[in-house]
Amino acid sequence: MNHKSIYFMLFLISFFLISGCKNEPKNILSSYESKADSIIRLMTLEEKIGQLSLFTSDWSSTGPTMRKDYIDLIRQGKAGSIFNAYTVDYVMSLQKIAVEETRLHIPLLFGYDVIHGHRTIFPIPLGQSASWDLEAIEKSERIAATEATAEGLNWTFAPMVDLARDPRWGRVMEGAGEDTWLGSQIAAARVKGFQGSDLLNSNSLLACVKHFAAYGAPQGGREYHTVDMSERSLYEWYLPVYKAAVDAGVASVMTSFNEIAGVPSTSNKWLLTDLLRNDWKFNGFIVTDYSSINELVQHGVAADLSEAGSLSINAGVDMDMQGSVFMNHLADLVKSQKVSEETINSAVKRILVAKYKLGLFDDPYKYCNKKREEEEIMRQDFLDFARDFAAKSCVLLKNSNKTLPINSGSKTIAVIGPLADSKSDMLGFWSAAGKAENCVTLLEGIKNKVKGSVNILSTKGCNVNDNNTSEIKQAVSVARNADFVILALGESRDMSGEAASRTDISLPGVQLELARAIIATGKPVAVVLFNGRPLSIPELDSIAPAILESWIGGTEAGNGIADVLFGDINPSGKLTMTFPRNVGQIPIFYNSKNTGRPINPEKPFEKYKSNYLDAPNSPLYPFGYGLSYTTFSYSDIKINKTEFQKDDQIIATVEIKNTGERDGEEIVQLYIRDLVGNVTRPVKELKGFKKILVKKGETVIVTFNISTSELSYYHEDMSFTLDSGDFELFVGPNSSEGLVTRFSVL
Ligand code: BGC
Repeated sequence: MNHKSIYFMLFLISFFLISGCKNEPKNILSSYESKADSIIRLMTLEEKIGQLSLFTSDWSSTGPTMRKDYIDLIRQGKAGSIFNAYTVDYVMSLQKIAVEETRLHIPLLFGYDVIHGHRTIFPIPLGQSASWDLEAIEKSERIAATEATAEGLNWTFAPMVDLARDPRWGRVMEGAGEDTWLGSQIAAARVKGFQGSDLLNSNSLLACVKHFAAYGAPQGGREYHTVDMSERSLYEWYLPVYKAAVDAGVASVMTSFNEIAGVPSTSNKWLLTDLLRNDWKFNGFIVTDYSSINELVQHGVAADLSEAGSLSINAGVDMDMQGSVFMNHLADLVKSQKVSEETINSAVKRILVAKYKLGLFDDPYKYCNKKREEEEIMRQDFLDFARDFAAKSCVLLKNSNKTLPINSGSKTIAVIGPLADSKSDMLGFWSAAGKAENCVTLLEGIKNKVKGSVNILSTKGCNVNDNNTSEIKQAVSVARNADFVILALGESRDMSGEAASRTDISLPGVQLELARAIIATGKPVAVVLFNGRPLSIPELDSIAPAILESWIGGTEAGNGIADVLFGDINPSGKLTMTFPRNVGQIPIFYNSKNTGRPINPEKPFEKYKSNYLDAPNSPLYPFGYGLSYTTFSYSDIKINKTEFQKDDQIIATVEIKNTGERDGEEIVQLYIRDLVGNVTRPVKELKGFKKILVKKGETVIVTFNISTSELSYYHEDMSFTLDSGDFELFVGPNSSEGLVTRFSVL
């Protein structure tokens, strides 16, 4: 019997079972649930446990191969899902085993870390967030989903939405920075982009929000370290971002490696069941992070793997990623009644429902379409978008004397630095199926731009991260022969991402020495930074004429950055994570508390105030900061009333004038401060932004609408309510500058 007739049979069985039920299911979800139930009735315990087990293929970058034993596991019905396997042929070969050689013919899910593009690689997520362009972010995920599904995938381990305030942590590159409100908007946009309008579409895949929860707050920024925070911080800052993904309909959730208040997420019943399932009404499935059930033993909350398995499934985990704990221990746990078969059935049901949502039971090969694979990978329109997105993500940090854009009179340009011509460093961590050879480096982008009309010189000057200064002299002589120097500095791709925490976040190796020597030539120099985290670069900031933060821009990085350097695109990005002056200021973020001894800004080092002896409190570059080749003036802030009822709309307007010499986009930001709260409130909280184009010389009136309910917060008793009282409302170009007005809520 082929799989189609088997599915038809299963359909008939479920039809009779459903028609026998008193309450015939009305909506699609419940019909999927009923179908899943009817399959579960046919399953052995071992087959059920198979659905709860996810294994990696033995994928390698040179081509997909798989360890024999995983093929056997699929064949034996012991693996319900596979990750790190893609390309139509490969996926098809594995799916065939599941569908044609197992007793119940249940199709596999195929997961992969599609984090910032699949084949066409976009800027790292932190860079994308600096565009503040929700449409572009959603579109990038749509493209990523289109490419990934064209290569057989139906599940991505994204979006990663972990709020992070510590740039020592390497995984800040994967998130949207330090702000809860902006992070929540971005989380929802990413889920919509991946899942599309309907999961049944062959170019939609299941999204998986991760890492639940608070993985972005490890102590000291050290990867996998303990997380310990107040309940208030957890609820107010960290949890809402995951909730935004759940509210946007995310199909799956991944647990985090860390503990929260002593309980690892993977065995945290409060987190996974009480909060996520019961309070937030999440109805998808929960997968662990890579062998995080096994790690419960190292955490010291389980004596052995069997106990780890029972803790995690009883806490609410549905699927074991790579740990084999469910495979090896669940059957015995059921026998010894430490885990009920009911619990297992519920987990299986959630996973089968996900497979129904994708339409895999109707067509298990729906993502195995050779034609799509040929036509939808790295399409020209995807590359054009990637180029534009790389440019949009750039943040101009400094531009004295209008050093940028590069003057069209420059006859010779030198492109110097260890990152000037390194293809693999354009990809960044988690670059899925992206290939270094497809990446455009900065040097190549500049050459593409000038098309031979300008003499281009290039040299490395030094390596990214060693002590060798022997090439600096030669780089200086190259700089001397140029009219303009572009200096490409920063981190290599493996210096951010997973397991890449740093205690020193300044420029690695001897790059600062190189910069000093090149800048000392007196040539106009623009530094282009490539990095996966905020860096501490106070000296570079004081000596470099211009600094452009390009993050790690992906496949089209070089072309996108060249568009900005030559002024074809006016930079408009703004930071979503604070740049500290030095690591000693960390954690440093804009929405901090006032304290009982705030500084007087006129006397930043005054004794017995909340400050340091050796550095100001202010960051090097604040949240929301970024320059343009034009300038904007802010004036005439107005609100519709000064007193609001508790269910009112606050309408604020402000005039933005382009006072410079070219058209430009500005990200206008609105912040609120609750002056007297039931508990202490932050000095500022982002509550809205508008990204607008203002033509040279023109003025645009920007309007914000905020409902007073958005001013609610967790009170002392943890009730989420709105206060009466006075508020300040700021509108400005970043979190440190702007206009202010006041209003009251009655
Ligand atoms: C990471 C996850 C990732 C998983 C599978 C883990 O090490 O923490 O983010 O999805 O591996 O690749």
